[in-house]
Amino acid sequence: MEVTAHDILLIGGGGAGLRAAIAIAEANPRLDIAMVSKVYPMRSHTVSAEGGAAAVIAPNDSLDEHAYDTISGSDWLADQDAVEIFVNTVTQEMLRLEHWGCPWSRQPDGQIAVRPFGGMKKERTWFAADKTGFHMLHSLFQTSLKYGEIKRYDETFATKLLVDDGAVQGVVAIELSSGKIRAITAKAVILCTGGCGRVFPFTTNANICTGDGMALAYWAGAPLKDMEMMQYHPTGLPQTGILITEGSRGEGGWLVNKDGYRYLQDYDLGKPTPTPVLRSMELGPRDRLSQAFVQEMEKGRTLKGPYGDYVHLDLRHLGEKKIDEKLPMVRELCLNYSNIDPVHQMIPVRPVVHYMMGGVSTNVNGETPLKGLYAAGETACVSMNGANRLGSNSLGELLVFGARAGAHAAQYVTGAPEPSARLLAQAADEEKRINREYLNRTSGGERVAVIREEMQHAMESAAGIYRTRKTLEEGAVKLAELKQRFMAVALDDHSRTFNTQLTSVLELAGMLEIAETIVHSAIAREESRGAHQRIDFPKRDDQKFLAHSLAYGNAQGVPRIEFAPVTITRWPPGERVYGR
Ligand code: FUM
Repeated sequence: MEVTAHDILLIGGGGAGLRAAIAIAEANPRLDIAMVSKVYPMRSHTVSAEGGAAAVIAPNDSLDEHAYDTISGSDWLADQDAVEIFVNTVTQEMLRLEHWGCPWSRQPDGQIAVRPFGGMKKERTWFAADKTGFHMLHSLFQTSLKYGEIKRYDETFATKLLVDDGAVQGVVAIELSSGKIRAITAKAVILCTGGCGRVFPFTTNANICTGDGMALAYWAGAPLKDMEMMQYHPTGLPQTGILITEGSRGEGGWLVNKDGYRYLQDYDLGKPTPTPVLRSMELGPRDRLSQAFVQEMEKGRTLKGPYGDYVHLDLRHLGEKKIDEKLPMVRELCLNYSNIDPVHQMIPVRPVVHYMMGGVSTNVNGETPLKGLYAAGETACVSMNGANRLGSNSLGELLVFGARAGAHAAQYVTGAPEPSARLLAQAADEEKRINREYLNRTSGGERVAVIREEMQHAMESAAGIYRTRKTLEEGAVKLAELKQRFMAVALDDHSRTFNTQLTSVLELAGMLEIAETIVHSAIAREESRGAHQRIDFPKRDDQKFLAHSLAYGNAQGVPRIEFAPVTITRWPPGERVYGR
């Protein structure tokens, strides 16, 4: 087996991974950095972010207001030290990105343009039309190319963390073009593999968002934090789940039910006004808007379509000029994927799984409880999003905490021991396992696609926008059955070159574990908070659950759930008030 050695290894080549890599190169140019990415970095899911990235820039705004919006939006589950670091640093990061080439949209006088976003009291979302993720990723990627010390392993899939003497010291990975299995050692590993939306059937997340880094960390013994907090975005296209950006509502779009009525006025989110009011109606937070959709559906006031119930997003009153200038991609997506022109027609939309607030538990430096292992971006839970992330906070998060994880890892490796020779035996075992369980197995009878689909539907029924103990327990039973059946999964393709079925089965192994952490964490949290709404426990319970859930791998097969305190610095828990 080919073995290569580096100082620091990044797993994931999206926004967080690239930002971390640049931070390492800037901190210490002598370090040998490597990046393993399942896809070519410009195809990472950051590319599809649309609406923008929040940072205080307007003269009437303040860091404290950004912090308060984030904390109240999180239903007080965010760690306030993390939020303070975030709001204090993100503007600097956004300006740096501009210097690296990010073409932020401008006001006519040349100042940075900002748009309103859900749950934010001030206009603070910077944007590059509605292709913000594309431009941010491009700026990060082209900047990373300046640093020759960043060696890339593109289209390479990490299957296992190598751990020796309590410290993470590398990975085993498959080069997808050849099927060659490598051991890549490093004194520190930073996980930046993005989210896990593909655990559910209907998601804005790309096919690659299978939670690989979360699974790697969990298998190695690190806890996953707040996994019950899966966010639904209120506006996805019904058939495909393609995101119709919150920027559409930021620019003044309306959500209307089957009677053409702006139904959000019935859900404690304010009343319609001639000009949009911040934190009101369509500019409310995502959890509340997605819950309002379900209640509207239960009242029989949604429309019925071949892909389920939906409502309409009406942009027609914005006019063609504004839509083309501010929301060109929304128009393009609607035309290409729904055959609808939003200049003249309303857009059918429904809530769609969008973002995992939970993830690999880290501190504010990106360190996990496992020595030598870091995480940043959606893979991680630092936690600044708590029970509900505000739209446009995640792009800033990956910059701020990607950079912090990189800078901290650069310091850590200076005194860290060289990877041990014993790792090679672990790597050899992993290669044998992959051959035995997948590539060389010819019988078994279970199929990857069938198990994956059953898992996704089980997750939607068990842990959707509203949950109960009964739905969650049924989900847990189904997942246990699927894990059992997974042991008999057999591939049709036994080749080595771009074996996408092999990648799928490796992803599915991790997704089944992640799904279990979501369901079991949701069973343990007997309250309703943010994205976690338990019909059987409809109130927030700060006495018992002002706490992060931590899911640990367990010999019994199902995760062990513990709770750890939330960090409160300056904002004691209060009521979440919108529309007033
Ligand atoms: O709607 C959006 O553009 C999504 C933004 C986000 O999730 O931050």
